Amino acid sequence: MKRLMILLAATILVSSLATIAVAETKGPKEVKYTPKMGTVTFNHSAHQNRTDCATCHHTGDYAQCKSCHGVDSKAPKAKNAYHKTCKNCHKELKKGPIKCKECHIK
Ligand code: HEC
Ligand code: HEC
Ligand code: HEC
Ligand code: HEC
Repeated sequence: MKRLMILLAATILVSSLATIAVAETKGPKEVKYTPKMGTVTFNHSAHQNRTDCATCHHTGDYAQCKSCHGVDSKAPKAKNAYHKTCKNCHKELKKGPIKCKECHIK
């Protein structure tokens, strides 16, 4: 009985650790940007099924885009980095918003 309890406790610990790890690496469900142009609501989870992580996270880590874009002089301005990433794919697939006010909602 005691061994069973230990086994059970170990199983619970392992599975809860796994849940935490997934929650950490997958990132946010949704990201909201609130520029003057209007709020952009980005469904991060849904987009994870639409392409590989590296399509957007092109540097191989998951640092915030603005930790480089707008800081590192070799990186394009943040606005251009987002627009290029987002709109190019929507145009290519003919799916997803392309017009300003379909993305920026006041
Ligand atoms: C369509 C583009 C896109 C795809 C695909 C994508 N992400 Fe993201 N991800 C973003 C954006 C945009 C943010 C918000 C960060 C920002 O704006 O700086 C983000 C944020 C994150 C963050 C939080 C970063 C932070 O410090 O706030 C993690 C972690 C993350 N993503 C992991 C992943 C993983 C893992 C995958 C693949 C399973 C993935 N992402 C796929 C665009 C994407
Ligand atoms: C660690 C720094 C860093 C992070 C984090 C980063 N970038 Fe970049 N990004 C760069 C640099 C430097 C360049 C210019 C050189 C190059 O193209 O690789 C660039 C270029 C780009 C380009 C232009 C590519 C082209 O062909 O013109 C886009 C679009 C882009 N990044 C989008 C994003 C998005 C969206 C995020 C967040 C999900 C992000 N980047 C995160 C550093 C970064
Ligand atoms: C690899 C392709 C790809 C990239 C990159 C991408 N999207 Fe999308 N997005 C899609 C597709 C495909 C749809 C349409 C899904 C549908 O209609 O079934 C979509 C739909 C959307 C929608 C409508 C609501 C929804 O989620 O269905 C919004 C808003 C959106 N995208 C914002 C963004 C933003 C902001 C970025 C950049 C940070 C971005 N997308 C990058 C493929 C992409
Ligand atoms: C696919 C979604 C999408 C579309 C379409 C789109 N944008 Fe954006 N835009 C964004 C995202 C995401 C940001 C980044 C917001 C941030 O950094 O807070 C942004 C940022 C901006 C900014 C910068 C705001 C700031 O304070 O730095 C301006 C201005 C802007 N967009 C104007 C436009 C215009 C004009 C159009 C139409 C020609 C357009 N956008 C189309 C998603 C989109």
